[in-house]
Amino acid sequence: MILGIETSCDDTCAALVTRDGSIRANVVASQGLLHERYGGVVPEIASRQHLEVLDSVVDDTLERAGATLDDVDEVAVTRGPGLIGALLVGVSAAKALAAARRLPLAPVDHLHGHVTASMLGDDPIEVPYLVLVASGGHTFLARVDDPSEYRVLGETLDDAAGEAFDKGARLLGLGYPGGPEIDRLARDGDPTAFDFPRSQPGDGLAFSFSGLKTSLLYTVRDHPDADQADLAASYQRAIVDALVARLEQAVEREGLDRVALGGGVAANRELRERVSALGPRVRVPPIELCTDNAAMIAGAARFGRALPYPEYLDLDAAARL
Ligand code: KG4
Ligand code: ZN
Repeated sequence: MILGIETSCDDTCAALVTRDGSIRANVVASQGLLHERYGGVVPEIASRQHLEVLDSVVDDTLERAGATLDDVDEVAVTRGPGLIGALLVGVSAAKALAAARRLPLAPVDHLHGHVTASMLGDDPIEVPYLVLVASGGHTFLARVDDPSEYRVLGETLDDAAGEAFDKGARLLGLGYPGGPEIDRLARDGDPTAFDFPRSQPGDGLAFSFSGLKTSLLYTVRDHPDADQADLAASYQRAIVDALVARLEQAVEREGLDRVALGGGVAANRELRERVSALGPRVRVPPIELCTDNAAMIAGAARFGRALPYPEYLDLDAAARL
């Protein structure tokens, strides 16, 4: 089994995954409450908390799988991109665990994890497929022909979709992270109440969300008595419309109807429903595989090259890859 470790942002994650992609345990210790009062992730607090809890998260993972370190034949860890201090905690722990047992260590690109999350479980998506990854830090469309790599077809020119949710929520006076808050509020609102822009920059498959955020700012200013749920529903509809439009264009352009979804925004109810409706060959993974987790990191490691001991002893984390 592969032991995966993921600490790129504010979730401390470990997982055990078999070579054929079955998940034996997938544990996430969320730091959400620690950061909430600051309205966003505080990098130093995130690193310190990873350090505090990572050992217990790994123990818990082994226990839930009914396994011990003897059952682990490879360690996989997120090397980047992410918060450098947070990544360093995971990379150092993974190196120590692997070196103590002379196990191979696979450095994993966090985004490769989101891209291949749909290849886990009983009904894995098969290559070639298209994937829309929308998270707090990244939003892009990619094509996967070989599971060891992905080709980006288009990405956001400014804010990520999750960032648009988080900044929008802040403008509406909601808590952090904003995505789940808007998702919840939008259920009681009218998505046609306000007309927000759906930007489709350029003639490729790029995204842009900064204009939308500004538009919400002006709408809130000009309509101080507007219904919060209507604002949330209309704003969410604009983000989802922009994501789905590009995904449909990619399906058309690439002539591929096998489609997967990944990243925290893929937890959004409206996005999940709209993408699921695109066709029978669409995979929308369970929410716990969309938001940050270590199962997707161990899963992606199946397709990469693990470094043998002691080659990885000088492995470094990287904020950008
Ligand atoms: O993939 P992720 O867990 O971490 C990153 O790698 O960024 O994504 C976090 C992002 C946050 O911006 C959060 O607001 C958003 O995913 N998110 C959602 C929902 N759940 C999480 N956005 C919309 N609707 C949701 N239900
Ligand atoms: Zn992520």
